[in-house]
Amino acid sequence: MSNEVVKIVARNIDKRFHVRRTEGKGTNEFLAVKDFNLEVYQGEFISLVGPSGCGKSTFLDMLAGLNHPTSGEIRIDDKLITGPALDRGIVLQGYALFPWRTVRENVSFGLEIKGIGKEQRRSISQDFINLVGLQGFEDRYPYELSGGMKQRVAIARALAYDPEVLLMDEPFAAVDAQTREVLQDELLRIWEETHKTIVFVTHSIDEAVFLSDRVAVMTTNPGTIKEIVNIKLPRPRRVGDIRSSSDFSWIRHKVWELLQNGHGEPEKKIAGGQNLAAEISPTVAL
Ligand SMILES: Nc1ncnc2c1ncn2[C@@H]1O[C@H](COP(=O)(O)OP(=O)(O)OP(=O)(O)O)[C@@H](O)[C@H]1O
Ligand SMILES: [Mg+2]
Repeated sequence: MSNEVVKIVARNIDKRFHVRRTEGKGTNEFLAVKDFNLEVYQGEFISLVGPSGCGKSTFLDMLAGLNHPTSGEIRIDDKLITGPALDRGIVLQGYALFPWRTVRENVSFGLEIKGIGKEQRRSISQDFINLVGLQGFEDRYPYELSGGMKQRVAIARALAYDPEVLLMDEPFAAVDAQTREVLQDELLRIWEETHKTIVFVTHSIDEAVFLSDRVAVMTTNPGTIKEIVNIKLPRPRRVGDIRSSSDFSWIRHKVWELLQNGHGEPEKKIAGGQNLAAEISPTVAL
């Protein structure tokens, strides 16, 4: 994808946290993310996978502007990220809905900030409430919803104001398997129609392979990118049953092996005679 326009650049990111000492006073430094380099192309769907605690959410929080690198820099459209902004829609772990706002009011939040009129706000937010299957729940407050329903409101809220970049941290983790597939298909449809740049975190290898152009595999202690796998499966993937194809299984297996610290079977070929080894690229050196 070297001819693509680069939308997001993370360069030499280190992130240290201060954590309380178990004994005595004061804090220790904890290096959560180290030497993290990533380029995300405009309109790309990229997923981050890696073991729990490897720094996926830490990186997404930094992209969202809710947290800052200890060293290194992250730019979007060549502008340094200094805080949250409406160019990024976020569905983050632990980033709650506004408890004092109903479903409809949560979904229309970004539209209000953008100064969109009441009628239009109502119509746009209704479209996204329908999209995530929450029609009939418009006037409920977050405490009146299940975990999966809250998550769907967060997705609708992020999509409704049409940000260029979507940052999604395990957005479908709390929904049932059937709804998850529906939301994956809908996300792909929206992405295909709107050409958004999506950075997606998931623990599901299947989900990452199904959705993404590339999957970045992270390792832990400290968190960094180990390899990036190009997912050369045909699109659109919503039609047919691509998850059952042998190419899909093989790529899923490859990502699984990388997560197990293995290095896969580089001689394996996928349909059309392409050598999959050529699709496995090392961490982008910047
Ligand atoms: N505010 C914080 N203070 C101290 N340590 C933190 C803080 N936030 C994250 N960490 C540590 O940084 C590391 C990375 O955390 P992070 O939440 O990014 O992991 P993750 O890859 O998203 O994991 P999971 O898959 O479980 O969500 C962990 O070891 C975590 O304990
Ligand atoms: Mg996380």
